[in-house]
Amino acid sequence: MLKVGLLGAGRIAGVHATAITSHPGSSLVAVSDINTAAAQKIAAQYGTEVRDTDNILQDRTIDAVLIATSTDTHSDLIERATAAGKAVLCEKPVDLSLARARACQEAVASTGCPVMIGFNRRFDPNFSTLKKAVDAGEIGKPELLSITSFDPAPPPVSYITVWAVSSGT
Ligand SMILES: NC(=O)c1ccc[n+]([C@@H]2O[C@H](COP(=O)([O-])OP(=O)(O)OC[C@H]3O[C@@H](n4cnc5c(N)ncnc54)[C@H](O)[C@@H]3O)[C@@H](O)[C@H]2O)c1
Repeated sequence: MLKVGLLGAGRIAGVHATAITSHPGSSLVAVSDINTAAAQKIAAQYGTEVRDTDNILQDRTIDAVLIATSTDTHSDLIERATAAGKAVLCEKPVDLSLARARACQEAVASTGCPVMIGFNRRFDPNFSTLKKAVDAGEIGKPELLSITSFDPAPPPVSYITVWAVSSGT
């Protein structure tokens, strides 16, 4: 049984909490968030406990962490988690700075811990079909790739309301 700690308790964390708790090979040991109310909500919903991030990272019984916090925390948390010996699945992107993302990659490599970024397009059948067509020369030499994509369904109204208030629209 893979014991997982969830860092972050926002929108995408709920999706991961569902996956972790519904898979027979994993269990959700704890969740952390700087917003305690958000962490408590996920903990109650998925039958786990709220802890702080340091506590999760230092707990040797936890095998892996799932990083679903805000983007600006990812590279630091990946480094801290792997330094603590955890396997990591982190939401995209690693960082908004390419140099910082590369530094993070180097730091991770020295730990030997497995790290995967949750970039689901890599597994999207449409994207892989396109990549195969490019590799086979069916499209010619690409000069510019412009991609427009959407989530399969609209976000909940509660999310749109928060976004509209925070962006002043
Ligand atoms: N792969 C995808 O399809 C996909 C989809 C949505 C979001 N994301 C990514 O997931 C991340 C989160 O997105 P979201 O929509 O869930 O955002 P969100 O704002 O709903 O949730 C982020 C949570 O992280 C918490 N947080 C921030 N700093 C923290 C810290 N230092 N320690 C602990 N908790 C902290 C916040 O309080 C918040 O609850 C983003 O990086 C986003 O790019 C990926």
